[in-house]
Amino acid sequence: MDRIQIIGGKILDGKINISGSKNSALPILAATLLTDRKFTINNVPELSDIYSMIELLNSLNVKTDFKKNRLFSKASKPKTLIASYNLVRKMRASFLILGPLLARYGFAEVSMPGGCAIGSRPVDLHISGLEKMGVKFIIKDGYVRGMIEGRLKGCEIKLKKKSVGATENFMMAGSLANGKTTIINAAREPEITDLGNFLNKMGAQVKGHGTDIIEIKGKKKLNGCKFKIMPDRIEAGTFALCVLGCSGQIILQNINEVVSDHLQKIFLPIKQLKFEKMKKKTELKVYRDSPVTLSLKMKTAPYPGFPTDLQAQLIAALTISKGISEISENIFENRFMHVSELKRMGANLILDKKKVKVKGEKKIFGAEVMATDLRASSSLIIAGLMAEGKTLINRVYHLDRGYENIEEKLKSCGALIERIK
Ligand code: EPZ
Repeated sequence: MDRIQIIGGKILDGKINISGSKNSALPILAATLLTDRKFTINNVPELSDIYSMIELLNSLNVKTDFKKNRLFSKASKPKTLIASYNLVRKMRASFLILGPLLARYGFAEVSMPGGCAIGSRPVDLHISGLEKMGVKFIIKDGYVRGMIEGRLKGCEIKLKKKSVGATENFMMAGSLANGKTTIINAAREPEITDLGNFLNKMGAQVKGHGTDIIEIKGKKKLNGCKFKIMPDRIEAGTFALCVLGCSGQIILQNINEVVSDHLQKIFLPIKQLKFEKMKKKTELKVYRDSPVTLSLKMKTAPYPGFPTDLQAQLIAALTISKGISEISENIFENRFMHVSELKRMGANLILDKKKVKVKGEKKIFGAEVMATDLRASSSLIIAGLMAEGKTLINRVYHLDRGYENIEEKLKSCGALIERIK
């Protein structure tokens, strides 16, 4: 299994090309099941989660050709409408094929995604919304089997809590439903907006995506299209937090205004982390040139709040600030697996139920550590870059789920980082 070795203490200085968004590409790939027409999708990141989704689509008779971040795909009538456990267990986002399969074929059998390192992650919201659209579900032997005679029925779905995946499943299901579907209390993440734009390019009629109320007028058929995936705001935010931890500067390339504005907004409370717009609108400089004296209170929240997907990285970056910060996790019930590993590097962290108190120390120290989930692994990368001495990160397959060539990107900014087989 690959490991990553870092010699910490280097100040960062360079340019990094931000890849396409994993969390936009995954629902968009699922949406290709809504038609048998051809797609060309650009800026798709080469990540293990993307290959898992492609493997799942191939098992449902979708022909794909994926190289150099470009994906060609064409779906044909699947021989099976069952997404097996061994495919779904690898990645919860597999559950996003439920809406498209039910909308297109009136049947789907998907393994329950099961828990993962960051909590139980139920699917009750997905199921209750699709039941309102007329689907009958049987949950047996760890599988969710849904069926409906004829087309899904457009209806009003009021989400009792914000759910990105459930919003995405309802948008895709509603695109082929009979009548209008209204999603109330919809998730507002930019990846939802990207999915809505993709569906509209397919000929769907989606409006309000990116707001709390999304309306979808169902169509009988949808077409293929050409599309470019938006930049990955979590990858960009991770590199901004590398700069917070290590000081120096990185010019983030290939981002867009949404990502640029989002980063500047969520990091506003961190005075020492500065941003400078560049001549090119697709570039943003992030830099820190003074010591971090900070006592920050940050709570994760649904968009446009501080993303839960940057919580672990923020904690790592604050471990050598002067001051005491408090980071609360309000989205997932167990997203602090990185805390124990960071403490082994000398971080002064106190975990109290849903929040972590970070008492900045003068230094943290390199150690051999273990990644437990995707964002925890990127927090260990940040800590390794900041630490005195050598850090060895095991189980970096977690990292490869969501970061494309991260060690190459950081090496180009002066970090002493490499992957060892
Ligand atoms: C998406 O996961 C992202 N994944 C996650 O990113 C992200 O952390 C999460 O949204 C929140 O922003 C993708 O987009 C592929 P949710 P999702 O449904 O859709 C609860 C990463 O690191 N819930 O918005 O699974 C759930 O347990 C990943 O890139 C229910 O209770 O998240 C959680 O507490 C990690 N019942 C909360 O809602 C349901 O039916 C938000 O989950 C569904 C969700």
